[in-house]
Amino acid sequence: MTTVLKLGGSLVTEKDRRETVDEAALGAAIDAIAEAEVGAKTAVGTGDDDDLVLVHGGGSFGHYHAEKYGVSADAGTRDAAAATAIHAAMKRLNDAVVDGLHDRGVPALPVHPFSAGVRGADGGLTFPLEPVETMLGEGFVPVLHGDCVTQVEKGVTILSGDELVVRLADGLTADRVGLCSTVSGVLDGEGEVIPEIRAFADAADALGGSDATDVTGGMAAKVRALLELDAPSYVFGPEGLEAFLAGGSPGTRVERNAR
Ligand code: IPE
Repeated sequence: MTTVLKLGGSLVTEKDRRETVDEAALGAAIDAIAEAEVGAKTAVGTGDDDDLVLVHGGGSFGHYHAEKYGVSADAGTRDAAAATAIHAAMKRLNDAVVDGLHDRGVPALPVHPFSAGVRGADGGLTFPLEPVETMLGEGFVPVLHGDCVTQVEKGVTILSGDELVVRLADGLTADRVGLCSTVSGVLDGEGEVIPEIRAFADAADALGGSDATDVTGGMAAKVRALLELDAPSYVFGPEGLEAFLAGGSPGTRVERNAR
């Protein structure tokens, strides 16, 4: 069983305070992951085939710098120092996540997408998965993050954690995908969690544009991308993480052609 889980940047950072980890929220998420990972692997005869790949977003680390330099998934930069500043901020956040996982006994390894990924002129992402697959085969938990990526004819653009989730889910033929953020799911017009989305039309009315501080798109883009996956995906808040890792269905389940 292969699971791809993204921790949203808004969850693990304080979005309005530049480069500030939300220690309580990140700590709680890591506790849940450690419980599922370390607990399962130490229980006799269980969990050994369970692979977990983590991805985290940018929050007040990546987005702050991306905005400052006017870089987005669409708008590139040829300023190498700007690209490096965005990437360095994301590495600092990645360090905090990986260190926290180590403190709880999770064998996490960092994977920095900027060094490996590339986007074609049409925006299509090429991202080799051999490092991630080999890490999984050796019993590690790869931890990727939203980052910069070099793009043909644009210089450097932003690669969102959500795009990585899609690439990983497809390339690893994941069984389950989770997007854990600060919201409890995809919300309808009344603020209630939509339990299941099988087509974009199921949620089109409720899905607005992107957040002002999110350079890589809001919930609408997430749902569109998740509907392309073969695996079922779940959009949920921190309260749903434990259930998701235990095989449950918190928040909104997104699956094309789900019955
Ligand atoms: C953004 O990744 C990465 C950078 C801005 C460099 P995401 O778009 O996945 O981040 P969040 O989860 O929305 O914060």
